[in-house]
Amino acid sequence: VSGKAVFRREEFLNASLDFGSTSIDLQDYATTGLRVVCVGPSGIGKTNAGLLIAEQLAVQGWVSVLMDPEGEIEALYGDAVGSPQDLAAALEHRRQLIVVVHVENAAEFIPYAHAVMSAVDEHRKPVFLMLDESQIFSASRRRKGSDELAEASAIVNDFTQRGRKRALDLFLSAHRFSGSLDRAVFANKNLTLVGRQEDPTAWSALAPQFKGSRIGFTELAALSPGEFFCFSRRGVEKVTMPMADALRAVAPKASVVKPTVPVTFSQWDRAMREIPTSRLQTLTGPIVNLLGAIAGLQTQQLAAGTRALRDELEARG
Ligand SMILES: Nc1ncnc2c1ncn2[C@@H]1O[C@H](COP(=O)(O)OP(=O)(O)O)[C@@H](O)[C@H]1O
Ligand SMILES: [Mg+2]
Repeated sequence: VSGKAVFRREEFLNASLDFGSTSIDLQDYATTGLRVVCVGPSGIGKTNAGLLIAEQLAVQGWVSVLMDPEGEIEALYGDAVGSPQDLAAALEHRRQLIVVVHVENAAEFIPYAHAVMSAVDEHRKPVFLMLDESQIFSASRRRKGSDELAEASAIVNDFTQRGRKRALDLFLSAHRFSGSLDRAVFANKNLTLVGRQEDPTAWSALAPQFKGSRIGFTELAALSPGEFFCFSRRGVEKVTMPMADALRAVAPKASVVKPTVPVTFSQWDRAMREIPTSRLQTLTGPIVNLLGAIAGLQTQQLAAGTRALRDELEARG
């Protein structure tokens, strides 16, 4: 080790990320900061992955700022800040650990991004910035975009290059690897999450990332939502992300509704109204008895059902 002082981020020394079966020791990132890129098409769990990291860092000393272009995050963590000034204030006071910013396009992003840069420049306290759907804020230089997109891209590049000494850590999600974002983002990333990819033409851009890993397109196409190949300082491994707390809280409860067999005459009567006549006519005595035995029906229950069936068929003529 040379005598030169090495820049180290204190907050990283005892911090970690819990990716389910894998834990990322953030001490590995103390001298570099954390720049996560997460790629894959819609529905593979990119937003969840970003929120999971944001939640975990928010309880380990960071303020997490979530740039939400789709309006889906605001509902999870409370109202978005009303203005860039409000964001600046939130980053100064650091009372709110998760701050949502609603920005639908590059033009709206620019003033908020300036507020983030000024705040981290001034305070140098840990901030985690999630840019979900970041192709809205960053584009490959070769591609012609609006002036606002070019300006936003320059700011994002600034974040990736100058964030390190300003205690600014990043998460960017995008649909495709390379091409989709400015090259500087890919050049400066140091933790990569690659989710399921069904489009074989996307493989050529991804292949260099997987070189020497024995992971190919087949393995990539077989991933489920929430599963990623995770490239960290320790190498590549498959991870299954837990659900972020806020998402789990709103996920529809997977309650298993056990279908119940009618018991009373009126329950049988109601159940039969929906069944086509031709179907009901197939229910002859021996078949009813057989089905009743298979379903384990009580004698009374079966009798009520048989009466309701006869009534229903008579009613239909
Ligand atoms: N880690 C996970 N475990 C289980 N299901 C997940 C996980 N991540 C995402 N999902 C499922 O996939 C859906 C889409 O996730 P999301 O994060 O919104 O994907 P994306 O941002 O890539 O479109 C979620 O609503 C959830 O049902
Ligand atoms: Mg998403």
